[in-house]
Amino acid sequence: MEYQHLLYQVDKHIAYITINRASALNALNQQTLTELEATLLEAKKDHDVKGIIITGAGEKAFVAGADIKEFVDLSEAEAKLLSQKGHYIFTELIEQSPKPVIAAINGFALGGGLELALACHMRFASANAKLGLPEVSLGLLPGYGGTQRLTQLVGRGRALQMILTADLISAEEGLRIGLINEVLDAADLMNRVEEVLERIFSRSGTAVTAAIDAVNASNEQTRDGYQVEINHFAELFVTRDFKEGVDAFLTKRKPNF
Ligand code: HXC
Repeated sequence: MEYQHLLYQVDKHIAYITINRASALNALNQQTLTELEATLLEAKKDHDVKGIIITGAGEKAFVAGADIKEFVDLSEAEAKLLSQKGHYIFTELIEQSPKPVIAAINGFALGGGLELALACHMRFASANAKLGLPEVSLGLLPGYGGTQRLTQLVGRGRALQMILTADLISAEEGLRIGLINEVLDAADLMNRVEEVLERIFSRSGTAVTAAIDAVNASNEQTRDGYQVEINHFAELFVTRDFKEGVDAFLTKRKPNF
């Protein structure tokens, strides 16, 4: 399938989703959001895909936010629909993805762009990346889950400092406060993210999916995360991967998942 604002490619079990509107610093307009939804669904149903990397085209930006130019004529009802659409994609297709999703933050990750990265399971950033939720400087607040996910990740005080000041922070500062997993030279960013995914692919895919779900449950009000963990733990005991993993350990060989 051809996309207008995204590049989509699968290689060695990794689906690469590249937001490709470099002239607007990869800002997420509605068309891009729709295409993001389509690629995520494609990656989900493709049995060859075991993990997903989301990044931005060019050297300057991951995603500089929602497209502010599209905000100008939005009614209250339309703004609500936009926010809901982003919530659905970020929560159900990224955060709840059974396959690991990693953000490779190659530059500005601002507003909806940082919120996109926050929905991913991990965030790796190039040293030149700048992170922030500048919405209050536009008279708005983060509308793609940022008030919730940033708070969960870095705590209330640091989240409020970033959200209320609208100040940008460096990748190094992001690393220090737990927002970023690792900071890398720009040239090494993609290799490192691929390496992490390959490491995950060497583990039991069934167990990886169960672990993502159990960790996600820790932030949900409708499910008891401890109970989800107990249930998945028990369910994994009847899987082929479990038998293979334990047998490999006991017979001192590498597992073949
Ligand atoms: C639309 C954007 C954009 C955005 C950049 N551009 N960010 N267009 N929406 N979010 C466009 C600029 O208009 C410009 O286009 C081109 O990209 C290059 O940007 P410059 O500003 O010229 O670059 P620079 O001076 O280097 O500054 C980079 C920047 C700045 C600091 C990242 O662009 C910036 O502050 N952008 C806005 C960031 C932001 O506020 N994001 C949050 C949006 S609200 P032209 O055509 O002029 O060359 C949001 C809400 C999410 O995300 C929730 C929704 C429900």
